[in-house]
This record gives sequence, structure tokens and C-alpha cells, in this order.
Amino acid sequence: MKTKALLLTLLTTAVLSVNAQEASNPRVFIYSPNERAGLHIAQQTDNGWQEIGQLCSSDYGTWGAEKRMYHPSVCRVNDGTWRLVFQVNDRSPLFAAAYSKDLVNWRPQDYPILKAKGCLAPVVIGNPDNSCYIYYKTSGGQKRRITASADFRHFTDDRAWPVDDQLWEPDTATIGGKLMEGCRYEVTAAELKTITDHFARQAADWQLSQERMYDDGKNLSGLQPVRATLTVSKEEKAISDKLIGIFFEDISYAADGGLYAEMVQNRDFEYIPKDHRGWNATTAWSASKPISVVQVDPLSENNPHYAVLGNDTIYNEGWDGFAVKAGEKYDFSMFVRNIDGKKDFTIQLVDSNRVVIAKATLKTQGEAWQRYETVLTARQTCDKARLAVIGQKDTKAGIDIVSLFPQATFKNRKNGLRKDLAQVIADLKPKFIRFPGGCMSHGQGLENIYHWNHTVGPLQDRKPDFNIWGYHQTRGLGFFEFFQFCEDIGAEPLPVLAAGVPCQNSANNRDGIGGQQGGIPMAEMPAYVQELLDLIDWANGDPATSQWAKMRADAGHPAPFNLKYIGIGNEDIIGTTFEERYEMICKAIRQKYPDIKICGTVGPFHTPSADYLEGWDFTKKHPDLQYMVDEHYYESTGWFMHHRDYYDGYDRSMPKVYLGEYAASTQVKRPNVETALAEALYLTDIERNGDIVEMTSYAPMLAKDGHHNWDPDMIYFSNTEVRPTPAYETQRLFSVYGGDRYIASTLSGVPDHLKHRLGASVVRDSKTGRRYLKLVNALPVALTITLNGLTIPEGSRMEGFNGQPEDQKVDVKSEEARGGEVTLPPYAFRVIKL
Ligand code: AHR
Repeated sequence: MKTKALLLTLLTTAVLSVNAQEASNPRVFIYSPNERAGLHIAQQTDNGWQEIGQLCSSDYGTWGAEKRMYHPSVCRVNDGTWRLVFQVNDRSPLFAAAYSKDLVNWRPQDYPILKAKGCLAPVVIGNPDNSCYIYYKTSGGQKRRITASADFRHFTDDRAWPVDDQLWEPDTATIGGKLMEGCRYEVTAAELKTITDHFARQAADWQLSQERMYDDGKNLSGLQPVRATLTVSKEEKAISDKLIGIFFEDISYAADGGLYAEMVQNRDFEYIPKDHRGWNATTAWSASKPISVVQVDPLSENNPHYAVLGNDTIYNEGWDGFAVKAGEKYDFSMFVRNIDGKKDFTIQLVDSNRVVIAKATLKTQGEAWQRYETVLTARQTCDKARLAVIGQKDTKAGIDIVSLFPQATFKNRKNGLRKDLAQVIADLKPKFIRFPGGCMSHGQGLENIYHWNHTVGPLQDRKPDFNIWGYHQTRGLGFFEFFQFCEDIGAEPLPVLAAGVPCQNSANNRDGIGGQQGGIPMAEMPAYVQELLDLIDWANGDPATSQWAKMRADAGHPAPFNLKYIGIGNEDIIGTTFEERYEMICKAIRQKYPDIKICGTVGPFHTPSADYLEGWDFTKKHPDLQYMVDEHYYESTGWFMHHRDYYDGYDRSMPKVYLGEYAASTQVKRPNVETALAEALYLTDIERNGDIVEMTSYAPMLAKDGHHNWDPDMIYFSNTEVRPTPAYETQRLFSVYGGDRYIASTLSGVPDHLKHRLGASVVRDSKTGRRYLKLVNALPVALTITLNGLTIPEGSRMEGFNGQPEDQKVDVKSEEARGGEVTLPPYAFRVIKL
């Protein structure tokens, strides 16, 4: 690159990368075809420059609007490793920096924050000691220089620096007929081979991942029924007894409007445009004249807005209407503050013709805020009723936290959960519940990080916030309710909280800093760490000695919740900002609560993604910091079927794995028999690797009709229906029929090209002595398995489903199993209870 020549004269200390190499060495050109395309590499051939592939892409900021790479500059330092810097936009006071040993794997990007606004066209130059200088221009036209440490993690001494414009003159190459700007380098033949091998592997993997059961009519036509032998040995190993759990996130209206049984939407008049464009304090409310919303003497400083009613009627539309059933009772409550005397209210549920289907009255008095309640009994069933709050006479009163709950909540709890939805979840018998998210945990920017302590205590004092998924969190379903639900269904709580960094896809803040936004400032980290320690105290402490534990007791749970796990971080960029904060948090928890099992994160994607590699590197360097790490991957059915050995090579001496988010999908983006079978196949191998994989949870779990942020999901629902999918049945069968001992078995007699379509696993539950044999046939023909070393006792039952790959609904059948042979129909999953 031209900068090399310039710098020889400019900086006597600067090093050239690999110019000393043989002239015959391969030449590569590193460039970005356009700002959305990321960093590419091309190779010089006799026919000119030929594209090889994409090396990495921008990880900065929000999807869509950001994730751009402008003016990438790459240099090779003395030790042969590579440095990359690029501009992310023209206004943010930062640039992107990444490091690679081989150009193939790049360490997750850091975004060093600069003094000047707008960092344009940064250029990186290596020094003999492997440190680098990065020169950049500001949007104001100034030239500046910053020094990067040899590990390319620390960036200091940002100052104005006069430098010749020649530094910014790029190398060029014509690729695919277009003149591109970039950096030219020589590499060794072995280095080039590493690069081309990587792309060949990637292409082969992509090809395998394209396999779909939908296409079997074409690809497996003429296939005859298959016979196989399952040889079950006496060899056993201990596996996790918590393999199947659930991941709850308030996405797609899973909490507010979903599992949380509150029927009034915007009950606290706290909706704001940040929740959703166009929303305000009266969203979901209507009246014949403007509704007055004020903030004088509020019910709570965390809930500053409330409505003032005179002789008015205001209607709430609920969450797509109020679905009520004839004869059922509903608890109505609201806080009232009389402004000029006493006030009576009539509360009604009305149908779309304004016919009153439930009615009650409330008498209120006193200027101080007070909670009033009454019960409405529905006279008829209606799926889309409205709630009317009718102020009698002209006297004025403020109303807030207007609430309606069915009395029949799950376990009849007050402030409870929707019974039908919670029951379907309970029927899965999850061994743990991870909550409250996902992206919702680390939040959209620093200010939206989920603080557990904002979600406990009296409802009116909880702090609502916007939800990263484009709506509002009341926090009515808060940490107390999550822990109580865990206890109610016998699941371990696994709260997951931010590692001091928000979601890497966060938008720019006021200072133009997006992504992780530099993390919680180090000076504020001790307070954040304390907040996490307080959670453990709140959950497990003694109310006699701890104010947090007393709060739990006051809420109705004097006994400890017996919290054992805590998750720190959610698929974050495992950059320097993350690692510094994560380490600090883990050390503090380990020191104060050595028995708490910490779950870390290794980014949003499987190997060989940058965050996965760096996350595991970090974990292996600090094995005693965490008990396990959370892996996430959403992939095609083909990918799952061809990566069933994923955990076979994991180092058993290292922290364990929590596969915290995964789902197989097809182009239809709905769970069907194909995705459920791919997941079942994969789970047979997870059971086999249950000595290193401690927990798994399908994601996302819930999605409300008409409000999907994400597909596929495990359970779809409306106000009146709950529809578990085939994915749910796979999870349920693995969970209900799980064990803590894995009994080794081998499936033989199957042609190699069909092996990835068949699965078998035998587990034993040492507490009950029951054994379970799971068999998966993802072929379009019947599969007959001869059992060797295992007999099916008389009277054994077999449960499972089968169908066509595209079926989105399955009937789970239970039938008798007998003999030494089992036949599965095409596309089937069965569990035999031995
Ligand atoms: O499960 C949906 C989202 O997927 C989660 O919020 C996030 O962790 C992941 O990207």
C-alpha cells in the first residue's frame, strides 16, 4: 500500500509488513466492495485479481441503519499478526478496531471512544514493538493520531498530529471489472492455503446446511424402508439432570399482554413514544373528549402520570380486547386520589355493541392516593370486550394503575399469570427458567439495561421502561413473580443480567455512541456489581439481617428462593469493554457467594464466529470465574442434522455449556415436523454429551398472534387460545422423559448417507429407576430397529408424533410398545418408557 512508502519517510519507527518476502509469494488485496459488504480478500492470479471471500463485517450499531464499514485499513505488524481499523459512520466519536492472527478469524471488534466527533478514514500503521499508530481525520478537518497497544486493546494518547495526505492514498485493484481501493499484501503460500481452506470449508458447510426434508421427494425418491440395529451397552455415564429448561423473554408480547394476566393495557398511563412510535400516556385508552393526564402529586415518582376524571367515561381496549368468559370473576382495582371531594365510579365491561356484560361500583374518598378494588362477574362470554371506567358527578379524581385480572390465574395467585399459558409451560416440566431475556436483559443502550431491583416491590413503585422489542414493560411480571413461577413449577431460577454492557445492536446515544456504548462507565461499575450481589441477597438472604431479603419476605416469601445460578451477559460482543466488566462482576460474585454458579456468554453465534472463539478463549483462560457459558445459535434444519457431533470434542475439564438459545428453522419460519425432528435428532446427541452440556432452552418461547417480533417460536397464543407447536412437543418429550444417566448405544446397519437422519438415545433417571429410549426417524420411509442388549418390558408405553415435514401441528400418540423390534413410521419421534 502507498502508505508504506510514505511512512518510510514519515516514521522511522514504523515497520513494513511482509515486504521482505519472496517476489513469488502470493499477493492478496484486502478491501471492502461497499460499506455494507464488510472486509473482503482477493488473490492475484494470472487472470488478474480474483475474489476469495468475506473476511469479516461491521458489528457496530443497529441492524439496518448501521453495521457499515467505510475505509477499512489493514496492517500487518512485526509478529505477523494483522490489525484492522475502519470508520463506522461520519458522526460517531469512535472507530472500529479488530485483530487477527490469520486474516480468517478476527477478534471481536472494539470501538475506542475518541475526543473528536466524527472519525473519518482511520489508517493503521504498525510499529516495531507491535503497537500501532492510528491516524484519522475529524469531521472538522483536523488530523489526529492515537496509539494502540501491542495487543490492540488499549487506545491512548489521542491527539492532533500533522501528517501528509499521502497517508490516505489507497492501493487499488480491479476486481470483477470494478476498481477497488484497499491494501495490497504478500502472504506465504501456507497462509493463503489457510485462507482458501477456510472458504472451502465454509462453502461445504453451507451446502450441507441447505438440506431440507421438504426436498426428500426429489433427493431420496425410491428409498425403501430402512432397517437398523440398536446395540445398547452396559456402559453408563452421569449426565445433567437439568438438560431441558425454558427461556422466557418479553418478546412478541410474551409478558405484558401475554403470560402476565393483567388485562388492562397502559394501566399506569406511562406509555411514551420511546416504547413505540406514536404511543403516549393515553394509548389504549379512549373517550369522547381528550383525556387529561397530569403529573402533580403522583402515586409514585416511578409512575408520574395519571388520568384525571370528572363526569367522564374512559375506555381501555386491553390487549387486543378483553377476552372474558361467562360466569368468571375478574378482580378490578385502581388507585384513586380525590381532588375536590368524594367520587363514585362505575366500572363496566362492554361488548362491541356497548352492551354491558359486567358491572360494579366503587366509592372513593380522600385526597391521598388509595387503592380500591371490586369484582366484576362476566354475564356472557366475549372475546373483545372493553373496560369502561365511568366517573360519576363532576368532582374530579386522579386514577392510576387501573387493573383487571382474572381471579383464575395460575395457582390463583394475585398479580398472577395467565392460567392456560402457564399450564402449558408447566406441562413441559422445565428443569429451569431463564429470564427476563435475551436482548431485553442487556437492553437498547445503557439506559435500558434491565435492573432487577426496578421490578420488585409494590406495583406502583416498580419502574416501567421501554422494551427493546418495540413496546412497553410494566414490570408487573417482575423478579418476585419470576421466582415464584419457578417455585410453583419446580424449576431452578436462572436470572440473566447484563454484564455491564447493553445490546451490541443498540442505537447511538446522545453523544453518537452506539452498540455497547462504551459499557457502564468504570466509575459506576462498583454500584452495578453491588446491584447484582443484592439480587443474590434478595433471593437467598435472611429477612432478619438483610433489607433485601426483608423486601422478599414483605412480598410474601419469607423463605429463601434458594437461587443457585446467575447468568451474566447475553450474547454480547466479547470485546475489551465486555471482558473488563464481566471479569469484575464474576470476581465479586465468586468472592461473596462462592456457591453461586455463574453462567457467562460466548456471543450470538456458534463456532467459528469471532465472539464464540474469543468467548471460549477467555473462558479457558479463566475457568474458575464461571461454571458454564451460554451458547446461542439459530440455524437451518440441515445445519442441525449435519452438526450432531458439535459437542463431542469439547474439553470436559472446562466450564460447562448452557445452550441457552437455539431453534431449527426452514424458509417457512414456523416450527413444523421437519424442525421438530431436526431438534429431536440434535437433542439425542445433547443427551449423549450431557456430561458437558448442562442445560438447553429453545428460543423464543412465546409469541402472541399479530405481535411477532421473531419466528419461529415454541408456543403461539392469542387471548383465547394457546397453540403449542411440534417444537414444544419435542422439548416436552425430552424434558418429561429425561434422566441423569446416559446409557451408551450404537445404531448400526444404516447407510452412511442416511445416518444423520436417525437418532437414538437411552437415559435412566436414577431417582425413579425408569429408563427411556428415544428414537428419531427423519426419513421419508419407515424405520425398523432391532434392539440388542435391551428388552422392552411387557406393558411398556411409547409416546410421540409423526407427520409430514411441513405439518405445523402434531397429534401426540401414546401406544403400547413390545417385542425386540420397534418400527417408526416416516418422519417420526418416539419415546419408549421402559
Ligand atoms: O430469542 C430472541 C433473541 O435472540 C434474544 O433476545 C437474543 O438473545 C437473541 O438474539
